[in-house]
Amino acid sequence: MPPPAAPAQSVQRRPAMDDIGEGVPLLLLHAFPLSRRMWRPQLTGLADSCRLLAPDLPGFGSSPPWPAAACRMEDMAAAAVARLDEAGVAAAVVCGLSMGGYVALALYEIFRERVRGLVLADTRAAADDEAGRGRRLESARAVECGGPPALAALASSLVPRLIAPRTRTARTELVAWLHREIAAAPPAGVAAAQRGMAERPDRTHLLPRISVPTLVVVGEEDEITPPAESIVLRDRIPGARLVTVAGAGHLSSLEQPAAWNGALREFLRGFTPDGGGGG
Ligand code: MLT
Repeated sequence: MPPPAAPAQSVQRRPAMDDIGEGVPLLLLHAFPLSRRMWRPQLTGLADSCRLLAPDLPGFGSSPPWPAAACRMEDMAAAAVARLDEAGVAAAVVCGLSMGGYVALALYEIFRERVRGLVLADTRAAADDEAGRGRRLESARAVECGGPPALAALASSLVPRLIAPRTRTARTELVAWLHREIAAAPPAGVAAAQRGMAERPDRTHLLPRISVPTLVVVGEEDEITPPAESIVLRDRIPGARLVTVAGAGHLSSLEQPAAWNGALREFLRGFTPDGGGGG
């Protein structure tokens, strides 16, 4: 006779993480409101160069629901470090795109010893202004109350801003995929992340204190975190290098994976699998 099923409340779901390839560990932190699935072009294109660890951040993909109304960037950073622990990785090159970049900076601030290098893609160090915070809180409420139709509306307003005009016309399959992913995102996770991003502090002060090799990447046509934000990161982080990806908007890693992966591959060459930092 099969054993009785465990009661629902005792089921522990571990957030999923892709873990493929060998070599320098590269932790990939996804954008809002997506999941680790956005890293598919990197998982297929970079597995010969490094060990890729791509977790679902709390509240997204197959992560369990986040138990509070807000999921701060520090909470997401702690969750990502827990995934590194589970994978037996002491320190990684930490790469975050947009919201993932906010998380990467929080992770650097709190868990400095776990970071061998940073890749900050299509992101910024500054906090939201008052109007931006208000929009996020309103969007969190709308998604929580409105469920799937509100997510579809969020997708319609967000997708045109996530990718460059040329990508929108040339990559209709990517456009359709983004709509599906956003419409299927867990409403509670989306709301918690919006509140967490609204609360995030300005981390500009941290930039001159970053002492690991850092690569900044930005889509030339990014309208959500325009290249000017990346220039601030490049100028304030000692020794940082900036790569601008032509023909890409905000989701540069998805829009121009060959150029993006090429920049990462070159950056990763400066690291040894077992601990040496690049420079
Ligand atoms: C993202 O792509 O993660 C978002 O645009 C971040 C944000 O809303 O600030």
